[in-house]
Amino acid sequence: MRVSIIGQGYVGLTIAVSAARAGHTVLGFDVKESLIAQLSAGKSHIEGISDVALAGLIATGTYVASTDPSVLEGSDVIVIAVPTPLDKQRNPDLSFVHAAADLIATNVKSAALVINESTSYPGTLRKEIAARITSMAHLYASSPERVDPGNTQWGTNNTPRLIGGLTPGAVAKAKEFYSTFCDSIIEVSSPEVAEAAKIFENTFRQVNIALVNEFAQIAHALGISGREVLDAAATKPYGFMEFNPGPGVGGHCIPVDPSYLAHVANEVGVPATFIKRANEVNLAMPAYVAKRVVAGSGGSIKGKIVVVVGVSYKSNVADTRETPAAGVIDLLRAQGATVNWHDDLVGSWRGESSAPIEGADLAVLVTKHDGLDLAALKGCSYVFDCTGTIAGADGI
Ligand SMILES: NC(=O)c1ccc[n+]([C@@H]2O[C@H](COP(=O)([O-])OP(=O)(O)OC[C@H]3O[C@@H](n4cnc5c(N)ncnc54)[C@H](O)[C@@H]3O)[C@@H](O)[C@H]2O)c1
Repeated sequence: MRVSIIGQGYVGLTIAVSAARAGHTVLGFDVKESLIAQLSAGKSHIEGISDVALAGLIATGTYVASTDPSVLEGSDVIVIAVPTPLDKQRNPDLSFVHAAADLIATNVKSAALVINESTSYPGTLRKEIAARITSMAHLYASSPERVDPGNTQWGTNNTPRLIGGLTPGAVAKAKEFYSTFCDSIIEVSSPEVAEAAKIFENTFRQVNIALVNEFAQIAHALGISGREVLDAAATKPYGFMEFNPGPGVGGHCIPVDPSYLAHVANEVGVPATFIKRANEVNLAMPAYVAKRVVAGSGGSIKGKIVVVVGVSYKSNVADTRETPAAGVIDLLRAQGATVNWHDDLVGSWRGESSAPIEGADLAVLVTKHDGLDLAALKGCSYVFDCTGTIAGADGI
């Protein structure tokens, strides 16, 4: 099939490469010229895709990156994989989805299957994409992406894929497309069910992470190890699922997607109380970390040199979107400390560069990547561990 993917970020590039490997002719479209130049030169910007793999697909002509929207015409399948962030009031910002739909409306006259993989609330495919494109020539399906960057066990091929379409024809064609590179396809009765399933999955994580974050604070105040309690509870073979506490949540999904569900819930008059409370707890975790670091360092960190180790939002990825490390650093600086950060994967961030761990008085381990030399922390007089990695260290 001739496949076009609108958006060449984490999701779009991953799907583009999977589809190209499956034998489709893939056009990766993005509005960001620097990104398209980089991809066209065979340089991948995401962890799961190597430069060699990308360059190989370009060399065989199965993958082409472009900023030219006219090349979308003639596609059999068009996948939308654009950002769905929150605006300043933490309401859904569908401007990127609308822009992608408008691109299709303007540039694609031949019949295509339009699939939305971007995460959004139920009703997005029907009301925000199909209604905007208006063309009766196209078929429309929703298949929310579930990719977990950095996860080496579960990827595009073996993570079950949900599909909901506006018509049986759309479902059939979407199944035909995804079955070329996905092992398991689950058809649901409507795009709204697929869309809602995706945001409920992430809401489930957000709420459970908030619950263990609150529990970690209770356990600490009671003088018991929250992590040991959670490990003990996880020995129950049924009815319990272990989540780990941490410095907060980050990335494009967990801090964002539940607010899409809360938005539609409010519209239909049902208050999403769990989501609101979970956001409060998770967003307050950097302040809790800073408070514990000050308390654990004798009540003041004024004049001390602190190194925050690992600033991406999770292990083994370079993604700093919504990372709780930002709040931890800012709050420690507000306490009068000189705060540097160390993260070899991230390298540079917020106009600053990764600094060595050596020479710091105190360390806060926020995110632990594989290969981090924990011995480097030995020179610090106090280490606060948000990851549960260092036996005997103070932490969450
Ligand atoms: N990153 C993840 O782990 C993940 C997992 C599952 C689902 N999702 C969802 O997938 C969607 C995309 O996320 P992402 O992480 O790939 O985002 P991203 O920011 O990595 O990439 C999005 C890309 O879309 C491009 N773009 C923006 N507007 C465009 C337009 N009008 N036309 C063409 N390109 C445009 C941007 O330049 C960017 O390169 C979001 O809805 C997100 O919630 C992300």
